Amino acid sequence: MEYILDTANIRYIKDATEYFPIAGVTTNPTIIAKENKNFFKLIREIRMVIGKELPLHIQTISVRAEEIVEEGKSLLEKFDKNIYVKVPVTKEGIKAIKILKSKNIKVTATAIFTSQQALIAAKAGADYVAPYVNRIDNLSSDGCNTVGNIIRQFKNYGFKTKVLAASFKNAQQIQNVANLGIHAVTVTPEVFEKLYSHPSTDFSVEQFIKDWKKVYGDKKIKNII
Ligand code: E4P
Repeated sequence: MEYILDTANIRYIKDATEYFPIAGVTTNPTIIAKENKNFFKLIREIRMVIGKELPLHIQTISVRAEEIVEEGKSLLEKFDKNIYVKVPVTKEGIKAIKILKSKNIKVTATAIFTSQQALIAAKAGADYVAPYVNRIDNLSSDGCNTVGNIIRQFKNYGFKTKVLAASFKNAQQIQNVANLGIHAVTVTPEVFEKLYSHPSTDFSVEQFIKDWKKVYGDKKIKNII
């Protein structure tokens, strides 16, 4: 499963990519606007931090298919070929996905709320589809169930499109999609911190150190072997 960061916060991306096995960064217009920085410089900075190889997913803001395609092309020209153009699955968006794929441009279909939207986006050629787990839950529906249906559909029909689950508000939602065999999750800093940290782990480590010191004092392993 790929862990992707759902943020444009440079400080967090730097820290997380140094410490954790991070597979890329996703942004959307809300995430970008939150940083309130020069867009061009911000994307360049994210690319510098994560390196050339990791996927960077950047969302288009146009509404018409032709304009979405132009935006996608200019993202690749201004930045690099390893950009995934994120396109919301509106009618125009689906047309744009078809065109972008005919030009061999990597695409992430986003703002997915139903399994049929995901299936159509996959048929249009999307490399990733991003169902919005928590937003679906908020509509009194079941985000994880939708994700499960999408994964099953793709398996049944032999699609290579990866499912990139998005919009999480807690660690349990991520565990639930992991149980379903999700390909990738994109996670905000707030939720990512909850994935690995546990007070009992910290307590155990403190206890191990105390016990060690009772016998070996401040000596490190390398000093006694
Ligand atoms: C990522 O691709 C999505 O844009 C993002 O996860 C949406 O998250 P939200 O529902 O918390 O805004």
